[in-house]
Amino acid sequence: MSLLDTVLIWIDKNRSRWLGDLKHWLSIPSISAQPDHAPDVRAAAEWAHDYLRTIGMNVQTVETPRHPCLLATTPENLAPKDAPHILIYGHYDVQPPEPLDLWTTPPFTPTVRDDKLFARGASDDKGQAHCHLAALLAWKEINQGFPCRITVLLEGEEEIGSPNLMSVVDAHRDLLRTAKILLISDTNMFADGVPSITYGLRGLLGVEFALHGAKTDLHSGTYGGAVANPAHALCEIIAQLHDSAGRVNVPHFYDDVLALTNEERAAWKTLPHDDAKFAADLNLPALFGETGFSTLERKWARPTLEINGLTSGYQGAGSKTVLPNRASAKITCRLVPNQNADKIGDLLVAHLQSLVPQNRGLRFELISRTTGSPPAITPVDSPAMAAASDAITLAFGKKPILQREGGSIPVVAWFKEKLGVDSILLGFGLPDDRIHAPNEKLDLPYYYNGIKAAAATYDLLAERLKT
Ligand code: BES
Ligand code: MN
Ligand code: MN
Repeated sequence: MSLLDTVLIWIDKNRSRWLGDLKHWLSIPSISAQPDHAPDVRAAAEWAHDYLRTIGMNVQTVETPRHPCLLATTPENLAPKDAPHILIYGHYDVQPPEPLDLWTTPPFTPTVRDDKLFARGASDDKGQAHCHLAALLAWKEINQGFPCRITVLLEGEEEIGSPNLMSVVDAHRDLLRTAKILLISDTNMFADGVPSITYGLRGLLGVEFALHGAKTDLHSGTYGGAVANPAHALCEIIAQLHDSAGRVNVPHFYDDVLALTNEERAAWKTLPHDDAKFAADLNLPALFGETGFSTLERKWARPTLEINGLTSGYQGAGSKTVLPNRASAKITCRLVPNQNADKIGDLLVAHLQSLVPQNRGLRFELISRTTGSPPAITPVDSPAMAAASDAITLAFGKKPILQREGGSIPVVAWFKEKLGVDSILLGFGLPDDRIHAPNEKLDLPYYYNGIKAAAATYDLLAERLKT
């Protein structure tokens, strides 16, 4: 029996320990977006700090203007000399859990039902990040060290766009740039029973704007008909942002979009996707999107523009005859390879401004603009990718498929751009994990397989990336 076999068996024997440890981490409400929870974000960092120290790593808490990062390195005696340097990234912050009344059990009281662990962060990303912490602990326990020189980077600001991550990376550039590969478990499998490696992510940019009218809200009888209603103008603008074929109507929006290759289109057609089932799972009688592209193509390789929030006028119970003096919208675009977030942001803002109806006395205000994340594609034919694929095959008993993902993880493109380090996205969640939504969960069998896949990945990388 190989050393790796021993490690994998030991991981299986210790399932209740992993679950217990993860529950502790999940019970800390590390909501990065809500200032009141800053102490909890720190507490979640401290929990991970202690955990990594117990494993035997050298851990430092790296302060930022907001939430801390953790950086853990491998002491010399815990990895073979000349072993390749592998970087692991995860995030310990979570999305706000609201609306609370829709949770069956409270978001920060981790609960197992039906072999699934329910809690905010169970899948995104504490549960998946813990797969790596547990895998490292297993290696340390069985082998008194790791097969690779491992560095763990955990951040507490991913869900707010990683505003401080790259200054932390800059400050530790000499350490991080020697990494051969960046491993991230913060994605889904394609479907239940379909282990997957993700090789593409969409990017993200956000714009929030408002239209302003009179100095206050007005009585809609006294003033209605005499002055413009900003809510109406906002709707007129928004109605023009797509054409009837579902295409984004911002001039030059698609100019830089990298077309899909025929090989990629063909490969995606072989994936076990069914539009009817996809719609039925969402309780929808029909799907909708840009014509000329399949659902997977639209989710993974086409850019989008979505309204995330609209605000104007009276939102309370009953009616109120008001003519609001303000209307605002939050918009985000998902971007695909070769689009540039700054360029698209400029195009979008200029276009919104140009759509403001003239001579109605309305004023446009740009409230905020964020370049959330650049799109990313990772190489699929590297030795590291083959190692990860074989490791997942070992752990799941099935070869992983290759997929892209419509969501965004900023660090992937940034590491490639700034340090030249490629990522491998080995995700153990499921599309129905309800990340960012009430009743988030992680299927425990995949969690345990994830720990084994992580442990096996380190071993195979050590072998395949030998220098
Ligand atoms: N883990 C997600 C990204 C993700 C979503 C991967 C769905 C796989 C499936 C990540 O935590 C996330 O939520 N990213 C944000 C972007 C970020 C800049 C706020 C997103 O995609 O909206
Ligand atoms: Mn995540
Ligand atoms: Mn998330």
